[in-house]
Amino acid sequence: MYNSKITGLGYYVPDNVVTNDDLSKVMDTNDAWIQERTGIQERRHVASKEDTTTSMGVKAAKIAIERAGIDKDDIDFIVFATLSPDYYFPGPGVLVQRDLGIKTVGALDVRNQCSGFVYGISVADQYIKSGMYKNILVIGSEVHSRGLDMTTRGRSVSVIFGDGAGAAVLSREEDTTKGILSTHLHSEGQHAEELALLAPGMGKRWVTDIIEENNPNDASYFPVMNGQFVFKNAVVRFSEVIMEGLSKNNLEPTDINMLVPHQANLRIAQFIQKKFNLSNDQVFNNIMKYGNTTAASIPIALTEAWEQGKVKKGDLVVLAAFGSGFTWGSAIIRW
Ligand code: UT7
Repeated sequence: MYNSKITGLGYYVPDNVVTNDDLSKVMDTNDAWIQERTGIQERRHVASKEDTTTSMGVKAAKIAIERAGIDKDDIDFIVFATLSPDYYFPGPGVLVQRDLGIKTVGALDVRNQCSGFVYGISVADQYIKSGMYKNILVIGSEVHSRGLDMTTRGRSVSVIFGDGAGAAVLSREEDTTKGILSTHLHSEGQHAEELALLAPGMGKRWVTDIIEENNPNDASYFPVMNGQFVFKNAVVRFSEVIMEGLSKNNLEPTDINMLVPHQANLRIAQFIQKKFNLSNDQVFNNIMKYGNTTAASIPIALTEAWEQGKVKKGDLVVLAAFGSGFTWGSAIIRW
C-alpha cells in the first residue's frame, strides 16, 4: 500500500482581464453589487479560439509535469475534470494525451463540475494507493465565457464565472503518513437542476430541436442557478465534508495549516473560515482575481498558494468543494 503525493502544480489563465466595470457596459450590473455579493473584482475570459479548455489544460499540465521533475512519458494515466469540454465527445482527456504526445495511457474525463478536481484527485489517489499507477496527471480546466448569457437576463450567473486551468501531478509516496491522507466524496442528484445547463442534451432537447423551435427567448442553453438555494447548501456541505475528513484522520480544525476551498463565492469561504475559527493565513482565496473557474479553481488556487510559499512541507492542507449535481468533496493532505 502506498500514498499519493502532489509533486507538481501549474496553472494557466488567459491574458484578457474582464473587470466588473467591463461587465456593467454590457448588462445591468455594477462593481459594488458584484464585490459585495461575491468578492469578485475581475475574471479572465479567453480572447481567441486559440485558448480552449484542452489547450489551457495542456499549458497548466506542462508546468506541473516540469515541476514534478518527471518526463511526460512517466505519466501513467490522465484525469481531466471539466464542464466545458472542447467537443461534446470525445472528452478532453484524450486530447491531452495527443497534444502532450504522451504514450497511449488511459485518459478519464470527470463530470463533477465544481467538485471535479477533488473527484479527480480522489480517483488518481486510489490508483496510486493500489499500486496500479505511479504518476497521474490531474487537470481541471474551463472555458465558461463563450457559453454565458452576457445580457441582464443572465447577470446573476455570468458575472461569477471565469476561464482558466490548473493541473497537478500525483506520484507514488512510500511513506503513508505523507501525501493524500484521505478523500471524501458525496452527491445529491435530487438538486441536479438547481445549478445546471439543461440543453442541449441527447435525452430531451438536442440542438436540432432548439433550431427547429427557433425561440428567441429560449435560454435553456445557458447555465441557470438558484443562487440562494445553492449558497445555503454550499455552506452546510462544505462544513460537513471538511469535518468528515478531519475526523477520519483524528484531526481538529486547529490542525489545518491551509484550507483551499473551491472559489465559489468569497462569502462562502468567509463563512467557513468563521465557523472553523481559522485565521486569514489559514484560508487561501483568489476569487477576487479569477471569479469562479469551476473545476480549475482549486488547482489554480493551490498552485498560487504553493508559489507564494503558503503551503510548506509538513503542513496539513485541506481541499474542499461543492457545486452542481449537487456534488461535494474534500481531500486531507499532509504536504
Ligand atoms: O460554484 C458552484 C457553487 N455556486 C455557488 O456556491 C454560488 C452560490 N450563490 C451565490 O453566490 C449567490 O446566491 C449569488 C452571488 C449568485 C447571488 O447573490 P444573492 O445575494 O443570492 O442575490 P439574489 O440572487 O438573491 O439577487 C438579489 C438581487 C435581485 O434583485 P431584486 O429581486 O432584489 O430586485 C437580483 O435581480 O440582486 C439582483 N441581481 C443583480 N444585480 C446586479 C442579480 N444579479 C445581479 C447582478 N448585478 N449581477
